[in-house]
Amino acid sequence: MAELITNIGFVKELAATADNMYKHGWDERNGGNISYLIPEEEVAEHIDITKVRRTIPLGFNAKELVGKYFLVTGTGKYFKNVNGDPETNLGLFRIAKDGINAELLWGYVDGGKFTSELPAHLMSHIERLKVDPENRVVMHTHPTNLLAMTYVHELDTKKFTHTLWQMSTECIVVFPDGVEVLPWMLCGTNEIGIATAEKMKLARVVVWALHGIYGAGKTLDETFGLIETVEKASEIFMKTAHLPRLNTITDSQLKELAGLFKVEVRKGILS
Ligand code: 13P
Ligand code: ZN
Repeated sequence: MAELITNIGFVKELAATADNMYKHGWDERNGGNISYLIPEEEVAEHIDITKVRRTIPLGFNAKELVGKYFLVTGTGKYFKNVNGDPETNLGLFRIAKDGINAELLWGYVDGGKFTSELPAHLMSHIERLKVDPENRVVMHTHPTNLLAMTYVHELDTKKFTHTLWQMSTECIVVFPDGVEVLPWMLCGTNEIGIATAEKMKLARVVVWALHGIYGAGKTLDETFGLIETVEKASEIFMKTAHLPRLNTITDSQLKELAGLFKVEVRKGILS
């Protein structure tokens, strides 16, 4: 049964997303990681959920997620290789009853394990599920222009969000909750996980200065689209920041957009 899982919808979908992200140039080498919450019924349709292949310590307590199943990219694995060999580059595990171990059911067949950024992923899932019970995806990647922007723009959540909203008309509609910005922190740690999850209470996008971005959403498509929109806005910023600005989208125009599309805009950013 488990051998067939590479043909299964959620595996193919995640592999296709990783491939697409690689082709956008966001995920050099092993850069980036994805976690995808899969309902138990869906997992059980394709795999024997009583057969635990390995138990891997999480390194933190994820008691809020006990019994939940996640499909997650492996640490050190290259996004460009996921499509060709999902069973090595991905793993599917359940959070064990004790909340501190992962029960591997499929994947990581070379003896590998989940991404080093698992704390940020699982802690973000915990917070996003409180805001939106349908949240299923957390995605981390290194988009080029966004990364560049964090070198030249103030790392202030409100200012950063305002600049991005001005860079393209669709931005305020796609991310009315804005983006949260974290200063440079040591990656792969519980500390950056806690800080990221704290920001995820307020917005679906968290920028890691001088490193990359986190996005959360209901589906892989929606989360990819969210990051894609932020990255496009960052690209416009990087293409224009050094040039005289003759035109801009004003705050009253941004409010008009929010009104037309009936989105609730984060308070304290527009004047
Ligand atoms: P992993 O290979 O452990 O997923 O790490 C990649 C990364 O982007 C670190 O921030
Ligand atoms: Zn990274």
